[in-house]
Amino acid sequence: MPPTINVLFLAAEAEPFVKVGGLADVAGSLPGALRRLEKPILDVRLALPLHTAIQAESATLYPATSFDLYRRGGSLPVQVFQLKRGGIPVYFISGGPLHAARTVYSTDLAADREKYAFFSLAALELARRLDWRVDILHANDWHTALSLYALKSRRSDPLLRRIRSVLTLHNLPYMGGEGLDVLSAYGLAPLEDESLPGWARSSPLPLGLWSADRIAAVSPTYAREILTPEFGCSLEGFLEGRGDRLAGILNGLDTSAFDPQTDPHLALHFDAASLENRPANKSALQAKLGLDQDPRLPLFGMVGRVDPQKGVDLALEALRRLPHRRWQAALLGSGVPELEAASRQLEADFPARARAVTRYDPALGRLIYGGSDIFLMPSRYEPCGLAQMIAMRYGSIPLARATGGLKDTIRDGATGFLVPEASLESLLSVTSRALDLYPEKGKWEAMQRAGMAEDFSWERPAQQYAALYQSLMEVV
Ligand code: GLC
Repeated sequence: MPPTINVLFLAAEAEPFVKVGGLADVAGSLPGALRRLEKPILDVRLALPLHTAIQAESATLYPATSFDLYRRGGSLPVQVFQLKRGGIPVYFISGGPLHAARTVYSTDLAADREKYAFFSLAALELARRLDWRVDILHANDWHTALSLYALKSRRSDPLLRRIRSVLTLHNLPYMGGEGLDVLSAYGLAPLEDESLPGWARSSPLPLGLWSADRIAAVSPTYAREILTPEFGCSLEGFLEGRGDRLAGILNGLDTSAFDPQTDPHLALHFDAASLENRPANKSALQAKLGLDQDPRLPLFGMVGRVDPQKGVDLALEALRRLPHRRWQAALLGSGVPELEAASRQLEADFPARARAVTRYDPALGRLIYGGSDIFLMPSRYEPCGLAQMIAMRYGSIPLARATGGLKDTIRDGATGFLVPEASLESLLSVTSRALDLYPEKGKWEAMQRAGMAEDFSWERPAQQYAALYQSLMEVV
């Protein structure tokens, strides 16, 4: 029997415990997909901060271990709890700055940096102390990147020497800021190596990228885009030099959690063979939002973080520029206050056509996926994106910017509409193209079916991650 590879997977958030964005979907479903592989055998365990939102589950947690973590001026007690969910052992780390934090992320970057430095260092110490040999430390985004820098800095420690590291990059622009404060607090020196630009040598994400044995961007196109000045956030030169360690692995979708045949939030279940059931969902959505229950009006849907990244402003402006066309729109999501206000303003200006619900409401989200006709995603950049995959699975045709994972998952003209430029003109012309096609029922349904037939499951990506782990185990 080949030996099991043990992987400790670190993330700031994971379904079903706590979710802010797409990272939680990945951290909530990739570990399970990896464990389900028959070959190689992967024992993947998850480590998360014990956020306030998770403490409510405390009845099901049991203490795993406790220790003191070095911090300048006085060490901090760390308590680790454990539970098993869906066959996956999950470690929850608590103590220090994690105690006081009320939300997963705050608007105070220095406070978040302190909190996640504590988590990252405590997780590494957990890896040292567990009665379970960690082969791979797999970090995600800036929040957990410092664990890899600390690992690399402490190579002389015999308990850490054999651990290999992987960093999955979900969103390059979020780097964690300038981190001299936390480096010195946790006894780490800033980097001296000149392969990273000076400003990046104390910043959590760049340090993680510098330290990782392998870097996985969340789509092949994003892995290439970050090598260019447009998307590289001034790290393109450094990343180019890391080319031999950088891969693009498209995220999967938890296809059992997102299934229009079983989704409890839909008015009527459907699949590609029973597409005639789908309009009942459009009608339920229109009724719920107080829109005209007219089946012939093309209904735009948008679900997700309300953020400039997602091109929310572009989508709003495009809809405003199309008063002469017939459409309805259902916008759902919370985020940047000015953009939330702009969404509500669209509703105020187009009361008969547009609804903007600016809160987190997964149930309404499901109905928008299952009831809208065109799913808007004009992102300025999109490392992977999940919503377009859910939309296709639910028969809503994505209209998205040709970038990152959107480009890798949507086939223009076959399963969706791709907008070549991040400009209003480009978006308007593709939107008109979609509206022109909408009345052609046969062609429209063929596109819906083609999207519904795509395989977005975790199976292939899990195999790619497994191959990455295996390649590291072969390195001595
Ligand atoms: C980030 C990215 C998004 C990606 C998600 C999960 O939220 O913005 O594109 O799908 O991470 O990897």
